[in-house]
Amino acid sequence: VVVVESKSLYKPADPEDVSLRILLVDDEPHIREALSEFLTTINQHQVVTAGNGEEALGLFKPDEFDCAFLDLKMPGMDGIGLLTRLKEADQSLPVVVMTGFPSLDAAVGTMRQGASDFLIKPFSLQQVKATLERVVREQRLLRENLRLNEELKQKEKIESLNKELEKRIKYQNTIHQISEKIDLLQKSEELYQGIADLAAFHLAASKVTVLVVDRVNDQLLIIAVHGLSQEVVGRTAGTLQSGICGKVANEGEPMIGQPGQDLILDSILELKDPYLCQPIKIRDEVFGVMVATEKRNGQPFSSKDLFLGRFLLSKSALAIENIALYESMVADLHSTLLSLVGAMEAKDSYTRQHSRRVTSLSVLTAQRIGLDLAQIESLQFAAYLHDIGKIGIKDMVLLKEGKLTTEEYEHIKQHPVIGESITKAMDLTDAERSIIRHHHESWDGRGYPDGFAGEEIPLLARIVAVADAFDAMTTDRPYRVAKSRSEAVEELETCSGKQFDPEVVRAFLDTLSRYHTMEELDRDAAARDDVLTALVV
Ligand SMILES: [Fe+2]
Repeated sequence: VVVVESKSLYKPADPEDVSLRILLVDDEPHIREALSEFLTTINQHQVVTAGNGEEALGLFKPDEFDCAFLDLKMPGMDGIGLLTRLKEADQSLPVVVMTGFPSLDAAVGTMRQGASDFLIKPFSLQQVKATLERVVREQRLLRENLRLNEELKQKEKIESLNKELEKRIKYQNTIHQISEKIDLLQKSEELYQGIADLAAFHLAASKVTVLVVDRVNDQLLIIAVHGLSQEVVGRTAGTLQSGICGKVANEGEPMIGQPGQDLILDSILELKDPYLCQPIKIRDEVFGVMVATEKRNGQPFSSKDLFLGRFLLSKSALAIENIALYESMVADLHSTLLSLVGAMEAKDSYTRQHSRRVTSLSVLTAQRIGLDLAQIESLQFAAYLHDIGKIGIKDMVLLKEGKLTTEEYEHIKQHPVIGESITKAMDLTDAERSIIRHHHESWDGRGYPDGFAGEEIPLLARIVAVADAFDAMTTDRPYRVAKSRSEAVEELETCSGKQFDPEVVRAFLDTLSRYHTMEELDRDAAARDDVLTALVV
């Protein structure tokens, strides 16, 4: 069947050609032998032979063979069966089918199964060589192609991983930005507005509303808005029993609402597009709802928006809880300090209401000078506490009716330092604490406890010093009767530039001149005192 040609006809092996490993399967031994011998002579190809399909499968291992020659007609598993199995094991293996009974059907069948070529028996060895070279070349191209495809896939995979990574970094950054911004917000009012502004920015929504749940009155109250008129703040936006917001408040899960579902909400929040409605929870308890609408890119809200919204709201809820705890602690502390002052004044009938009057006079003077709100708030709080250190002064000294001995005077001079140390453990600002420590310093440096002079003495303490002196002069003391208002004014003028800051004395006297009587000043101050009460209790 095989026409064996003279070896002299063979071209020398291409030095670039590598030695191939070839599987040769034929049930006719002489064909196996002749072909095997021939193939071995080309480039020292290694030939592994098998007499049938089963044997061939036993010898075959994927990636160990570069090519296979199969006889189509064999007892047991035929060539097509073997071809199918080999292709299953190694997709890129070139398979040459040899047959002595060519038919179109058989040809189509084998090609379908992935055969690379046909050899029709009888064939010349030259044909075998040419076929081998061609299929191996094709196989190399195929493998190269597969490799390139693999590389491409790998590249695409890396690109998509990079994109995913970029997305995550962006997320991380957004989350970090939200966290940082929220950490900067110190008061609950600021926080609600912060939620609205941050949600508008990160969810790319034109309008955001923050509502609080009022379960007592069964309603939702607008507490902050972005992209809407501030006039709606404080208004009711529906009940807890109706609408999407009510459902979100009751069930604690986010929802997408459609305009037309809740007419009250639609009209107040100007809802024209679908809106995202998310609960604000502290420990699983819903206390607010955020409504965001009108995406700036016109797209619907995505799962990313939902995630960012949820993060923003849970982070804000933590901050709200902390602020609420802090605010109630501060309120507790302030009321403790105020009652300490009350206890101290109760001991001494002469100084009763002294702290309140000094506070009023100091605040009015500070306003006259034009100090800012933060300074006035500090003054309002700390002027009231200026003598709190007297709680540490012995009653026999504090309440003594006669003249104080030097020792007793030195003891009483301790009260600014004692006062400062009482408030040290408490949450007072440096400015507030310095009022308590320095309210007995003198402009000429002859005061106590530090002997500070001029502008070295904090301005707020210089103000309290004048107000304190004026009130002391105009009140009865155990050792002397009160001076009249004009006498006290005269005394301040005399001491201006010596004991007191002249500018503070000027502002103080200007303020005083606006009131005919101390009662009038008291009434005005009492009205302002309400502000103090609202601030600290
Ligand atoms: Fe004092």
